[in-house]
Amino acid sequence: MIRTVQTTPYKDQKPGTSGLRKKVPVFQQTNYAENFIQSIFNSLEGFRGETLVIGGDGRYYNREVIQIAIKMAAANGFGRVLVGRGGILSTPAASNVIRKYKAFGGIVLSASHNPGGPTEDFGIKYNIGNGGPAPEKVTDAIYAGTRTIETYKIAEVADINLDTEGSQNVAGMEVVVIDPVTDYAELMEKLFDFPAIRNLIGGGFRIVFDAMSAVTGPYAKEILENRLGAAKGSVLNFIPLPDFGGHHPDPNLVHARALYEEMMGDDAPDFGAASDGDGDRNLIIGKGIFITPSDSLAMLAANASLAPGYSKGLAGIARSMPTSAAADRVAEKLGIGIYETPTGWKFFGNLMDAGLVTICGEESAGTGSNHVREKDGLWAVLLWLNILAVRMESVQDIARQHWTTYGRNYYSRHDYEEVDADAANGLVTALRDQLATLPGKTFGKLKVATADDFSYNDPIDKSVSNNQGIRILFEGGSRVVFRLSGTGTSGATLRVYIERYEPDASRHDTETQAALADLIAVADEIAGIKTRTGRTEPTVIT
Ligand code: G6P
Ligand code: ZN
Repeated sequence: MIRTVQTTPYKDQKPGTSGLRKKVPVFQQTNYAENFIQSIFNSLEGFRGETLVIGGDGRYYNREVIQIAIKMAAANGFGRVLVGRGGILSTPAASNVIRKYKAFGGIVLSASHNPGGPTEDFGIKYNIGNGGPAPEKVTDAIYAGTRTIETYKIAEVADINLDTEGSQNVAGMEVVVIDPVTDYAELMEKLFDFPAIRNLIGGGFRIVFDAMSAVTGPYAKEILENRLGAAKGSVLNFIPLPDFGGHHPDPNLVHARALYEEMMGDDAPDFGAASDGDGDRNLIIGKGIFITPSDSLAMLAANASLAPGYSKGLAGIARSMPTSAAADRVAEKLGIGIYETPTGWKFFGNLMDAGLVTICGEESAGTGSNHVREKDGLWAVLLWLNILAVRMESVQDIARQHWTTYGRNYYSRHDYEEVDADAANGLVTALRDQLATLPGKTFGKLKVATADDFSYNDPIDKSVSNNQGIRILFEGGSRVVFRLSGTGTSGATLRVYIERYEPDASRHDTETQAALADLIAVADEIAGIKTRTGRTEPTVIT
């Protein structure tokens, strides 16, 4: 029943910020998925007889790759596979299942917030036994394996029934189809005060959650409507679709525009939120106010102790380097550690495992805690609701008080998508070449304090990650950061992160782009964005 198949390597299977992401037709090439999955297994040791978790966000090609992965797990000697019913597991739910059932690791099939469909994106990511994305030494070993692979192993069996819960035998390995929602919902009930949130909602507090036709639909329906009593219909687009209804399942102000407009309207609900393709990102909008992900991290951290799961306080906070420094001010006030890591959730894993941090967040709409080892969209929504239920104030009031206490970090990200890769690399190289000359230079009222290419020294495993983004810091706490995205699948995406600190509460009402206008102009002056990319404006502003 176990067949060893000859294969030849593909040269482009290098995992990016979050696993291997390519267009579906690339994954459909002969043995493309098989090569990568075998290379994952080849990079691991000691999994014989152990448990592997498999699940995905339900996008196009999910079921096909799940069949392959299960048959290959059996052939490679795993003892058991836990797979979500229908092949569905949100990324945070997969992380929880890995931890709860002490699995050896997991394979998560997703391209996150990227579109799905026959010509759109697909992805494969390996998570280690702590439930988090594999660290770079593992992904480097996987990549090295893909370059020399000669054979893979697969069980020659009929397709596995993924739609009925329960146990079955696949070539001597047990496959258990589990309900994707139950374990996750139980974990949320432990962390948050569900009765208090139920009271809030019962008292007329209205919420709307856009699942964007992606994986959080079933989770949000069960938790928000069934367990917390939100009105039926509060969860929009709750049926996961293989092509996400033709949309980008990316919860930002561009792709969740309708939600944003509803929340800015006269009859807006009290709280609006959305999550992405695989359920790890979140968008939070109060009545009349968008909360930037960087601010959300800071506000959640400042108020987390109001929720039962965090009542003992936080050990520390971590944020990715391009994320605003709003959380730093909270950490300072709480007297706890603050860690600055490169972009990518995988860098938080060691800090959480070592007990140094409790809450982590990224500007890219990711927030989460040590309850799992992935960012978690619904977790952020529930922590907000728990805080609102205790404070009995609006999102708007909580945000304003926060800024008054800590000052406001005006923040925006400008993306230039699908630009010519050579032009993008040229821009970054030219920036790197100017770094030494920038400190002390003035641009209008702005004076450069320091400029560098961010390097991270992991305090736990001592690994070093270089070239993680160009930072230009100005006197007074403003800064511009440039980096190339590691998650795109065509051309290059240039991200420009712009931040200005404003301590004066009488100046917290400026429109964000206006508040950042001088920095935006300086970013272009230093990097030559327009001349080098040929673009006059960003594709996406968040
Ligand atoms: C994924 C990762 C995040 C990361 C984000 C942006 O969602 O899980 O950790 O922040 O991608 O990455 P990029 O390289 O596209 O800026
Ligand atoms: Zn995601």
